[in-house]
Amino acid sequence: MTDSTKKPNTGSTMSTGAPAPSDRNSLSIGANGPIMLHDVHFLEQMAHFNREKVPERQPHAKGAGAFGVFETTEDVSAYTKAALFQKGCQTEMLARFSTVAGEMGSPDTWRDVRGFSLKFYTSEGNYDLVGNNTPIFFVRDPMKFPHFIRSQKRLPDSGLRDNHMQWDFWTNNPESAHQVTYLMGDRGLPRTWRHMNGYGSHTYMWINAAGERFWVKYHFHTEQGMEFFTNAEAADMAGKDADYHRRDLFEAIGRGEHPSWTLSVQVMPYAEAAGYRFNPFDLTKIWPHKDYPLIKVGRMTLNRNPENFFAQIEQAAFSPGNTVPGIGLSPDKMLLGRAFAYNDAQRNRIGTNFHQLPVNRPKVPVNTYMFDGQMTYEHSGNAPVYVPNSGDRSWADNTGRMEDGWEADGEMVRSAYTLHPEDDDFGQPGTMVREVFDDAQRERLVEQVAGSLLGGVRSPVLERALDYWKSIDAEVGRRIEEKVRSGSAPEPAEGMGEA
Ligand code: HEM
Repeated sequence: MTDSTKKPNTGSTMSTGAPAPSDRNSLSIGANGPIMLHDVHFLEQMAHFNREKVPERQPHAKGAGAFGVFETTEDVSAYTKAALFQKGCQTEMLARFSTVAGEMGSPDTWRDVRGFSLKFYTSEGNYDLVGNNTPIFFVRDPMKFPHFIRSQKRLPDSGLRDNHMQWDFWTNNPESAHQVTYLMGDRGLPRTWRHMNGYGSHTYMWINAAGERFWVKYHFHTEQGMEFFTNAEAADMAGKDADYHRRDLFEAIGRGEHPSWTLSVQVMPYAEAAGYRFNPFDLTKIWPHKDYPLIKVGRMTLNRNPENFFAQIEQAAFSPGNTVPGIGLSPDKMLLGRAFAYNDAQRNRIGTNFHQLPVNRPKVPVNTYMFDGQMTYEHSGNAPVYVPNSGDRSWADNTGRMEDGWEADGEMVRSAYTLHPEDDDFGQPGTMVREVFDDAQRERLVEQVAGSLLGGVRSPVLERALDYWKSIDAEVGRRIEEKVRSGSAPEPAEGMGEA
């Protein structure tokens, strides 16, 4: 019996381009006989299949994304000369959204921070902004990052996630209080990726055409409006559709509903950093808008789904170290640590030449003195491979003061930042709980935290956690303690803080 096929079947090829003999029957001696080692097509299929996965991202493994465009609608040339941020400039871009702690197959609606990664294919090279849906983070020294991530992942013996381990880490690192308050509040359960904001989180540098430097923070505000799931809705969705956020974005773009975000920045003149009332490079702090109001920059719209998830999303490589002229890093130690971590992870995860893949390749000519390695695709022919050279191959030779640099001096030390007058760990989360959250949000926060603590957190971590919340806000702390002591909180949402 023959199959009915819609298209004429013109066969397939081997990787060499030669016709493949059969994609359905291996070569054997007689219909029932043993299969043959010289069936090269069969061998190629089996061997390649064994290699078709790459390691998942260590954090942020589960995610998806789409292509789009960023348009600068306002004149911010007073602050940056970066070509992509000049009024009227339209730049092709890629966005990837993710959860942090869950593995590749984990449900999208577990309580977690969401990643918000952007790659701008600018006329001056690729610019990446790798942020989250929250403007702050759990720790302020990169040495702590692997420990933090492990505490959110799985126990070494059972392979289970564990509330006790999570709260042990957070309460031993009280600078986590601000981010934990965000996480335990509504932002820990965004309804979809389209309905959440994104933040650069760190302080970055902008440099204008005159060489003046500014400190900036990026805010991407969703034009779809912020929407959240309740714990019950999120838990229900995790069971019904573990890929709900991935599906929502893909289907919305497929329907022609192109999600968009407005980009604004807060700008601090360079010299104001030293005397500001708290350390402006501390990633656990926001800059109050009354000190540094939002300045509108432009709009990002996602309008094209990937044609191939693996090639264009799984192999996408973002790094906060990828900057362009007019944009720099800052003295934030976390950011400086990240400048190494990402490309190193990608050399391991994707391969030495990950930057040559179409999704990662810049849209401008590349003249790098990195050569060869596995899977080299782009090359410079027989041009000189060393610098300086007497051929006609150019090289970089900046010396002296760097325009995107800053001053630093002092002994080499291992130390927390020196404190500014208003540096503390609990002030900003306390303000958020009292002045930003309304009664209903405070109630949901109390229930979520108490439920999470009742999900297996033991002494002395439990007592430390209750003190931690009383330090954030005495009343909220008291209500959490009351619920914990009476054992009356409902089930928390799965994910970070799960039972
Ligand atoms: C020192 C602190 C940090 C280190 C060492 C670190 C390291 C990493 C590594 C190794 C990856 C996987 C990269 C890959 O395989 O392609 C990753 C992914 C990611 N990280 Fe971090 N991270 C840090 C802090 C942060 C912070 C503060 C943010 C947000 C403000 C953040 C946001 C992300 C996002 C969004 C991704 C996913 C990137 C993608 O979509 O491909 N990370 N991180």
